[in-house]
Amino acid sequence: MSILRIPTARIFEPLLLAPARYKAAYGGRGSGKSHFFGEFLVETCQAERATLAVCIREAQRTLAQSSKRLIESKIAALGLGHQFKIFNDKIEAPGDGIIIFRGMQDHTSESIKSLEGFRIAWVDEAQNLSARSLSLLRPTIRAEGSQLWASWNALQLRLMRALESRARHNGWCCIVSDTTDNLASANNFIRGGYRLYQPHFPWAWPNTLYWRKSIK
Ligand SMILES: Nc1ncnc2c1ncn2[C@@H]1O[C@H](COP(=O)(O)OP(=O)(O)OP(=O)(O)O)[C@@H](O)[C@H]1O
Ligand SMILES: [Mg+2]
Repeated sequence: MSILRIPTARIFEPLLLAPARYKAAYGGRGSGKSHFFGEFLVETCQAERATLAVCIREAQRTLAQSSKRLIESKIAALGLGHQFKIFNDKIEAPGDGIIIFRGMQDHTSESIKSLEGFRIAWVDEAQNLSARSLSLLRPTIRAEGSQLWASWNALQLRLMRALESRARHNGWCCIVSDTTDNLASANNFIRGGYRLYQPHFPWAWPNTLYWRKSIK
């Protein structure tokens, strides 16, 4: 048997040790949240054989939008390539364990049942998770000892204010932004005084909403 020694930033240490069902980290961009949970997941699958784990996003059109690449890079960086088997859409973990990647928007109250029996569900970019998705997920991840992990960026409102103050300083007349399938973020824009508008040349998806706020 080999013992992994992974240095972890001190801020995340309580998450490693706490015997908790819910483990969450939120913070600013690039603060190491995804890397921490990615490593923690690989480490858990290695230490506890037959772990069934699912990496979740609110919307996941392709696997490129999932945590798969991060997990793969962690497996390689930890030198565990011989213990995990990487497939197109899943990763097999030691002792018949598995890591899969799912978007909550693709799930109904029926299809979510396929995740019953999973022991770990990690939601990254959880600021995008809808109340519906959370209410589907919580009763589904109920295997004995199961855990729900979440990592999110909670600074949208603060970033908004910082941007506005810079825009004012620069003498700009307005700020424009967009959201796609993200009710929480859209509500933040409304709360922040932004209003919907239709640009002459929409630049994103057909279902994207465009927001504008005048700066005076
Ligand atoms: N444990 C780690 N090992 C190696 N690199 C790391 C680690 N943690 C953070 N980093 C570096 O910091 C960068 C940001 O980390 P990460 O992507 O985990 O941040 P985040 O908090 O998830 O950010 P965001 O809110 O933008 O998703 C990474 O791209 C990587 O270069
Ligand atoms: Mg991240």
